[in-house]
Amino acid sequence: MAVVSLEGVNKSYRLGGQTVYAVRDVTMAIEEGVFLAIAGPSGSGKSTLLNLIGCIDTPTSGRVVVDGREVGATDPDTLASYRGRTVGFIFQTFNLFPVLNAFENVEYPLLAFPELNRRQRDERVRQYLELVGLTRFARHRPNQLSGGQRQRVAIARALAVKPRIVLADEPTANLDHATGSEILWLMKQINLRQGTTFVFSTHDARVMEAADRLVRIEDGRLTGLGMRRGVQWVFVPPDRGVAAGPVVEETHDELSAATLVVAPSSSHTETIQPVADEAIK
Ligand SMILES: Nc1ncnc2c1ncn2[C@@H]1O[C@H](COP(=O)(O)OP(=O)(O)OP(=O)(O)O)[C@@H](O)[C@H]1O
Ligand SMILES: [Mg+2]
Repeated sequence: MAVVSLEGVNKSYRLGGQTVYAVRDVTMAIEEGVFLAIAGPSGSGKSTLLNLIGCIDTPTSGRVVVDGREVGATDPDTLASYRGRTVGFIFQTFNLFPVLNAFENVEYPLLAFPELNRRQRDERVRQYLELVGLTRFARHRPNQLSGGQRQRVAIARALAVKPRIVLADEPTANLDHATGSEILWLMKQINLRQGTTFVFSTHDARVMEAADRLVRIEDGRLTGLGMRRGVQWVFVPPDRGVAAGPVVEETHDELSAATLVVAPSSSHTETIQPVADEAIK
């Protein structure tokens, strides 16, 4: 079952009498459990695509379907609740609240969850700070943390709501190589252990290497789906997806021929097990 699917989605902006096409005719389905990189040059539409997937932005035309429901037809309260509970966002620039410490930053989205009492909320925050290795830094504000530590706070904040899908916009772009690798490793562990779906954008080849699926975007259009064959990437053009085996297939008749189905690789499907909260530690 797709967590999110996009059907013939376009996003354009009017700017100084000109129309900028940021995303063009994108059709893709993101299946639960995938660890997917969206790769493309600067300005190719990666951030726009992530914002559309995360329902932070709405398409100019086309449909975004979440759990079988079309986003455009959903009322704003329901949509906000979907975003809060289903999607975790990790931004390139971290987007932490500067006046809140690490603990309070992670706690913030949980304040909107009435089912958690204070004790449960505290426990959840501690659990996720521990997961990202920041227990000792809980009382530090962002300006008292390194870039890598800030990014780990952002990851803990995104994960603490137990989202089904984590969207990360160039999560390692502001980090050195070693810290970036550590962050990717952490995301991959969570993907494998909890089955959380990850979609991240990058133009860094090293970051692409960590993915098990790769979608290429150029000039707003999807130009290929990369799948792993050992250490090699095999690329298929989106309109020939059916030739690529079980993970890429033309789906429903109502979708255009250029349908990408992005699903977890079978080896990962086997290893993904639901993990009880206690086991995350
Ligand atoms: N709010 C906006 N108004 C006008 N044009 C925009 C807006 N947001 C994005 N664009 C344009 O849409 C295109 C895609 O932008 P986007 O930010 O999605 O690219 P990107 O692939 O994320 O680039 P980068 O790697 O530099 O972050 C660009 O040409 C950009 O200038
Ligand atoms: Mg961007």
